[in-house]
Amino acid sequence: ARKPILAIDGPAGAGKSTVTRLCAQRLGLLYLDTGAMYRAVTWQVLQSQIPPEDEVAVAQILPTLDLKLCTDSQAQLRVYIQGCDVTEVIRTAAVTAHVSTIAAQPAVRSALVKQQQRVGQGGGVAAEGRDIGTHVFPDAQLKIFLTATVEERARRRMQDLIKQGETQISLETLRQQIAERDRKDSSRAIAPLMQAPDAIPILTDGRSIDQVCDLIVQHYQAIN
Ligand code: C5P
Repeated sequence: ARKPILAIDGPAGAGKSTVTRLCAQRLGLLYLDTGAMYRAVTWQVLQSQIPPEDEVAVAQILPTLDLKLCTDSQAQLRVYIQGCDVTEVIRTAAVTAHVSTIAAQPAVRSALVKQQQRVGQGGGVAAEGRDIGTHVFPDAQLKIFLTATVEERARRRMQDLIKQGETQISLETLRQQIAERDRKDSSRAIAPLMQAPDAIPILTDGRSIDQVCDLIVQHYQAIN
């Protein structure tokens, strides 16, 4: 039988990637990280020295873009563009700084949403992003809206950066960057970040990753 689709949306730094990946693993669903797709396009745009605001030039590279997502043996997502592994480079500050500009462009969204919908055709997908429950899979059987306060998200990002050996950036700068990305993602004209009316909101402040996953897994099992 066709397994239900799990749609997880929410702002930057709410823990969507970790939570969605773990839930997908526990529920035997295919993990679809749509943010990684917008990041991969952004990386290719920067690599091609196209100004990110140049919508016409960006749209021109879309038809030849060979974008693939695979899960490796450790259930980690790997992202390829033109056969080149971009899993790590799409997380750099340069890509993060421009991704919201690229993701606001209609041509980019329509190309990527089509690809995402093809992946979800047979059901059995755990997809995360900003517009999954509202646009990509409006009929998803379970929709979660994952949030955390800006302060909490800045603290988490700081811990991640410290782990990666990056200690130059202040908590306040991170807080501002996150608030700015929220503002851009929520105010754009097409498919802005928004909680679907039928989504279940989960505030993750003060909850561990495991607690959040348990909650989502329970919801998913309840609809089966
Ligand atoms: O989730 P992640 O931080 O990797 O997403 C990067 C960016 O991609 C977001 O800030 C947003 O601009 C864009 N995005 C989007 N729609 C999605 C997923 C991501 O616009 N479904």
